[in-house]
Amino acid sequence: MSLVTSKEILQLALAERFAVGAFNANNMEMVQAIIEAAQEERTPVILQVSQGAIRYAGLDYAVGLVKIAADQVDVPVVLHLDHGTSYEQNVLCLRAGFTSLMYDGSKLPYEENVAISKRVCDIAHIVGIPVEAELGRVLKATDGVTPEEVEAAMTGPDQAKEFVERTGADSLAVAVGSVHAMKSRQATLDISRIEAIRQKAGVPLVLHGSSGVKHESVAEAIEHGICKVNVATYLNQAFVRGMREGFERHPDEVDPRKYLSISRENIKEAVREKIRLFRSNDRIDSSGRFKSPPRQYRSIDLGGSEE
Ligand code: G3H
Ligand code: ZN
Repeated sequence: MSLVTSKEILQLALAERFAVGAFNANNMEMVQAIIEAAQEERTPVILQVSQGAIRYAGLDYAVGLVKIAADQVDVPVVLHLDHGTSYEQNVLCLRAGFTSLMYDGSKLPYEENVAISKRVCDIAHIVGIPVEAELGRVLKATDGVTPEEVEAAMTGPDQAKEFVERTGADSLAVAVGSVHAMKSRQATLDISRIEAIRQKAGVPLVLHGSSGVKHESVAEAIEHGICKVNVATYLNQAFVRGMREGFERHPDEVDPRKYLSISRENIKEAVREKIRLFRSNDRIDSSGRFKSPPRQYRSIDLGGSEE
């Protein structure tokens, strides 16, 4: 199936209280594993590429790989730019065929973040491509962060409302207790903050740094407005574990496929586990459409208008 945008998928996830997995890929094996798991689980999926992955693989290779993979399956696939930190990067990806963008101005002063996020939204919306923006800042474990720093960087609900109104962002990456690149699940999220942001901002919310968050906390966050969950470190760990297993099992092997195929299988299982946690499995029928009527979950107040 051709690539689709993330707009309607995330709106549906917000209404139906599930989240779409947004999985970072850096190479062909990762793309294949993510798409195959999504197909088998009958879920929409967001395949995302960071600026680092673009530097590693090349922009046209990344787009080509994902388009070819999406053509092999009949579930909706979104190609998303993860943490694009400039207007220019977003425009390059828009032109290259990405169907969802992210502008991350979280390191900038608030007014600059508003101004550039709005510019990215304005140009992307001309051609119907949705944009995720970030408010507050999801820090990085490798920078050695303290709990106080995590708390201080969190997203404010009132500011989130104003930010979404002024920028036109279609979804919002929020800082609610997670930290990027954690190697084990220790963090819990500030659920009442997520609820307050959802009520005020009224757009689908995005969880970054999910690899370090306890599963029960992720599940609860989805009940309160998280609609897209980004997963990177957990997949990288699965990939490297596969290579180590391969080296141990076949110490004299010179064919890299013997190692990479174990990695690919590991990624597939890791993606499958997350898809089920996010409750996005079993959503897509055999013609590639959302099952109708969707599974019966309590519908939620989408918020966004009240003070
Ligand atoms: O943007 C990517 C994510 O926020 C991934 O975070 O590496 O902790 O899974 P993670
Ligand atoms: Zn992130």
